Amino acid sequence: MSFKEGFLWGGATAANQVEGGVAEDGRGLANVDLMPHGKDRYSIGTGKKIVHACEEGAYYPSHQAVDFYHNYVQDIALMAEMGFRTFRLSIAWTRIFPNGDEEQPNEAGLKFYENIFKECKKHDIEPLVTICHFDCPMHLIEKFGGWRDRKMIEQYVKLARTLFTRYKGLVKYWITFNEINMILHFPFVAAGLRFNQNENEYQAMITAAHHELVASALATRIGHEIDPENRIGCMLAAGTYYPQTCRPEDYWKALCDNRESYMFIDVQSKGAYPSYALKWIEQNHAHVPFEKGDKELLQDNTVDFISFSYYSSRVSSADPKNGQQTESNIFASVINPFLESSEWGWQIDPLGFRITINELYDRYQKPLFVVENGLGAKDTIASNGAIQDDYRIDYLRKHIQAMKDAVEKDGVDLIGYTTWGCIDLISNGTGEMEKRYGFIYVDRDNLGNGTLKRIKKKSFYWYKDVIASNGEIL
Ligand code: BG6
Repeated sequence: MSFKEGFLWGGATAANQVEGGVAEDGRGLANVDLMPHGKDRYSIGTGKKIVHACEEGAYYPSHQAVDFYHNYVQDIALMAEMGFRTFRLSIAWTRIFPNGDEEQPNEAGLKFYENIFKECKKHDIEPLVTICHFDCPMHLIEKFGGWRDRKMIEQYVKLARTLFTRYKGLVKYWITFNEINMILHFPFVAAGLRFNQNENEYQAMITAAHHELVASALATRIGHEIDPENRIGCMLAAGTYYPQTCRPEDYWKALCDNRESYMFIDVQSKGAYPSYALKWIEQNHAHVPFEKGDKELLQDNTVDFISFSYYSSRVSSADPKNGQQTESNIFASVINPFLESSEWGWQIDPLGFRITINELYDRYQKPLFVVENGLGAKDTIASNGAIQDDYRIDYLRKHIQAMKDAVEKDGVDLIGYTTWGCIDLISNGTGEMEKRYGFIYVDRDNLGNGTLKRIKKKSFYWYKDVIASNGEIL
């Protein structure tokens, strides 16, 4: 057997991509609520187009999403039917603190997640909770300018402490921030940053990143103090960069691109900024805004495990004019001619998954947790009502095999695997509903039409067998 006993098989979601119920039970407005479907989504997400409120005439898919808010009992039962041992979900910050800066939490929000965790327990499903998956109260963004202000740390820590206290005994696995390296690529979504003209944007992103890193270390400390059983992890948008050619310049570029992401995890896992990062930041006319005690805090409060998403490998070229560009989870990459692509141009590379897993383990020597992997694809319902998503099964089968090789043949310590969007949800990058990842289909289209009815896809039954056989039957 390659996967250890108790290996955490399951699926993953994020609050803003499944819940809906945007104004229910006192929930406040967050950055993610201002992300429309359509052409402005990307410029808002990168902080270039500044928005303060929802705009008339625009469609905001997350406002109803797939209405997990009212369907979680049924949805968790479906996950249990597949044999899930874990379910990754995130907390909508503004359900707990609608504006962010209240002194007391909103009981209705706390109760909502408590009910979810109890529902999971009923089915022997271990919740894996992301404290912050791309959301930030709009009130704090207006007040502080997002994570560029150090005062955000206090607000986040209050949230984390509230969650650790309230859910003690119900939740053991925590992730402090989703894809922390996304700050450099989608800064409004990842850190509530909107940029003024003439601002040193890189400095704002480095400052925000440092504040999130300090907040993450504080949360790790508090989480361990409140319950020593807690296991707290960081989270990386992973996917190794290959050099486009064996030209040394291309290799160097790939190394630099990889390090640009690893520097965040270096801090969270090893407890200090790597020396290259400090030099590069300085050479880019920026600095890390260290305050007294930060270095010791980071050093003393490293994470218990490294979690990451993997969809694809990427390719670097020293010459930006060389080769076509493709998008892979918001990170630009040169096209790899040896790989096929999804309908959205994300390249498919199972061996790259094994390579990425090995690189992370070589670098950090801590348990790894794959918390996102999957294929975004269009699904069609046949006249008999079936959804034959063999393409999704094919993608997942090859990736699970690659993960198995990493465990069995390379000796990597892996805790679990959660596929992204186990139930169809709103795409973070495009806002589309029809970019589906799920084993469970949700009847809803890009413009919000549909009954929200759930339908089991072919992959639902396939994944059930994978879990039941602990990855032996693929
Ligand atoms: C990751 C995010 O970046 O990729 C998810 O953590 C996101 O929130 C996922 O949904 C897939 O990306 P997309 O753009 O297809 O939704």
